[in-house]
Amino acid sequence: MKYAVLGSAGQLGRDLCPRLAGEVVPLARPQADLTHAEMLRATLTALRPDVVVNCAAYNFVDRAESEPEAAMAVNGWGVRALAEICRDLDCSLLHFSTDYVFGLDEARRTPYKTEDAPGPLSVYGLSKLAGEYVVRAIVPRHFVVRTCGLYGLWGAGGKGGNFVETMLRLAGEGKPLRIVADQECTPTFTVDLAEAAVELMKTERHGLHHLVNAGSCSWFEFARTIFELAGVKADLTPVASAEWKAAARRPGYSVLKCQTQLRPWLEALAGYLRQRSQRLRP
Ligand SMILES: NC(=O)c1ccc[n+]([C@@H]2O[C@H](COP(=O)([O-])OP(=O)(O)OC[C@H]3O[C@@H](n4cnc5c(N)ncnc54)[C@H](OP(=O)(O)O)[C@@H]3O)[C@@H](O)[C@H]2O)c1
Repeated sequence: MKYAVLGSAGQLGRDLCPRLAGEVVPLARPQADLTHAEMLRATLTALRPDVVVNCAAYNFVDRAESEPEAAMAVNGWGVRALAEICRDLDCSLLHFSTDYVFGLDEARRTPYKTEDAPGPLSVYGLSKLAGEYVVRAIVPRHFVVRTCGLYGLWGAGGKGGNFVETMLRLAGEGKPLRIVADQECTPTFTVDLAEAAVELMKTERHGLHHLVNAGSCSWFEFARTIFELAGVKADLTPVASAEWKAAARRPGYSVLKCQTQLRPWLEALAGYLRQRSQRLRP
């Protein structure tokens, strides 16, 4: 089996590539830019992969509010070009999406199923939803995997780390931390997601999937648990989203119901912290 992995230099891409069995061709932006359809087509046509995995995305949730064209160019139009190429090359496509396709239903407090109608609150969420639709409409053998709150040992390139590392760094600097307590979702370890995605690709279960760690928490609870498990003292205060004044609106509740159960988020976080400390050990 030959896999071509877009976004291979991102935090998910880096955990996914080594877990794929077969020939794996990691593609970073210079070889496969989603906003350059001709380059993308030439690269993939020369490779003739059996499966394309798209870990690449425009991920700047707040910035997207002021540059919607840039978000759509990658997450909407770029993914449409990729989907057309996969259809023409008759290969399957696994594409990642987000819990931020939900949020409009402000009363919602039960996990979202794949059959639930999405309704994004942000430009980023809308651009990712556009990507989901074109993949589902164009590529016969597709897997669209919605996930949430990723943290991996590599850190999200564009965001300069991940939530866990940011919390530990700021606490280490002795900074008081004000963390939103009214957004409930499921932070997910990229290793768990990568392993589940690899298993999914071995099946014929094409279509829309949710893959997140089990359970849910607010970002405040997640931060408090990070400090408890890491044995770090932090000056932590819960705040409401309205106080935070982020450019993009985020869902108050975006827990995803999964068909395949991953381990609980608390166990996954403990696993991450263990791997992290092994990595940092001289
Ligand atoms: N991070 C999260 O919390 C989260 C939550 C839910 C869903 N997701 C989804 O999960 C997937 C993986 O996210 P991640 O956290 O691994 O993201 P990431 O670390 O930010 O990686 C994204 C990758 O996409 C590449 N990229 C950006 N624009 C591109 C373009 N025009 N053409 C080709 N490559 C481009 C980036 O390359 P450069 O290094 O060159 O910028 C980067 O390597 C994405 O679909 C994301 O939407 C993420």
